Amino acid sequence: MTGGAGFIGSHLCDSLVEKGYTVRCYDDLSFGSIRNIEHLIQNAGFRFLQEDVCDFSTLNDASRDVSIIFHLAARKIPRYGDALTTLKVNNEGTRNVFEAAAVNRCKVLLASTSDVYGKGNPPFKESDDLLLGRSDIRRWSYAASKVFDEHLALAYHDEKKVPTAILRFFGTYGPRHHRSWWGGPQSVFIDQILNNEEVTVHGDGSQTRSFTYVDDLISGIIAASENKEAEGEIINLGSDEEITILDLAKLIGRIIDKSKEPKFKFIRYESFGGGYEDVKRRIPDLSKAKRILGYEWRMRLTDGLSKTIEWHRNNPT
Ligand SMILES: NC(=O)c1ccc[n+]([C@@H]2O[C@H](COP(=O)([O-])OP(=O)(O)OC[C@H]3O[C@@H](n4cnc5c(N)ncnc54)[C@H](O)[C@@H]3O)[C@@H](O)[C@H]2O)c1
Repeated sequence: MTGGAGFIGSHLCDSLVEKGYTVRCYDDLSFGSIRNIEHLIQNAGFRFLQEDVCDFSTLNDASRDVSIIFHLAARKIPRYGDALTTLKVNNEGTRNVFEAAAVNRCKVLLASTSDVYGKGNPPFKESDDLLLGRSDIRRWSYAASKVFDEHLALAYHDEKKVPTAILRFFGTYGPRHHRSWWGGPQSVFIDQILNNEEVTVHGDGSQTRSFTYVDDLISGIIAASENKEAEGEIINLGSDEEITILDLAKLIGRIIDKSKEPKFKFIRYESFGGGYEDVKRRIPDLSKAKRILGYEWRMRLTDGLSKTIEWHRNNPT
């Protein structure tokens, strides 16, 4: 698995090890952490390699005798960071993964993203057109790189006979998520409210998202890896419990302390640099995931947030 020391990857490692699979966790620790996987290190079925997906020869060696590569290593939306690293890792890294899979005859599960739907009309269906914003707005480099990855995956599937499934993850949360905007708004809001700080909301907070608890996402990824019908397909995975970002912050506030409402600080998109553009509404159509994988999300947002807040409390930064 690439990106196995990251948020989703470490939970996937847990689940695969628990199911008795042998797991090679390949991660350069640029955004992941040893803390996420240290409980697995002593396990005979688990091996950690601190390496870069952009290094083909090491990745190719690590892929020998592997039956499936779960490809999760990636850089995300450069909200504050640079676009070049996102473009490099998500393109070179993914090409290396598919080339190694072709050489070593293994299947690939590609982690794609709901961001590829861009500014289309939700709920988003896999058969929808993709509507990305302008190329001179830096944040779209992430979606563009993942669209490239999806084309690459389908080309390797069709032309080099590499079995592959493309999974479009919608916003996922839970313990071990990165404690910055890299980990999504809930990560930042929880720490800010626990620390009695102002809550920084991007834009006016009226944009909506759906939030998937990590265990639900993992069940979908595992189902896709075990199901032949998923090969050659693009499948949404997420939850369709929709909420505005401002209401998400208020809900976290109420779970932490019912007696007081947090103070908000609204951050204008223009202040990000690189010209930021947010997606106004984002929810998935999950009928394909249900039909092919029997996938259904179970964790209500309030319950999942309570578990996540507990983890933040027990793991001060
Ligand atoms: N978390 C979400 O809500 C979400 C939503 C949509 C898609 N995704 C996708 O799911 C995947 C995992 O996301 P996550 O939230 O766990 O992110 P994460 O940043 O926690 O995990 C990514 C991991 O990849 C590693 N990595 C980055 N560059 C690397 C490189 N060059 N070589 C080796 N390892 C490298 C990082 O160290 C990190 O551990 C990504 O592909 C992401 O695009 C996540």
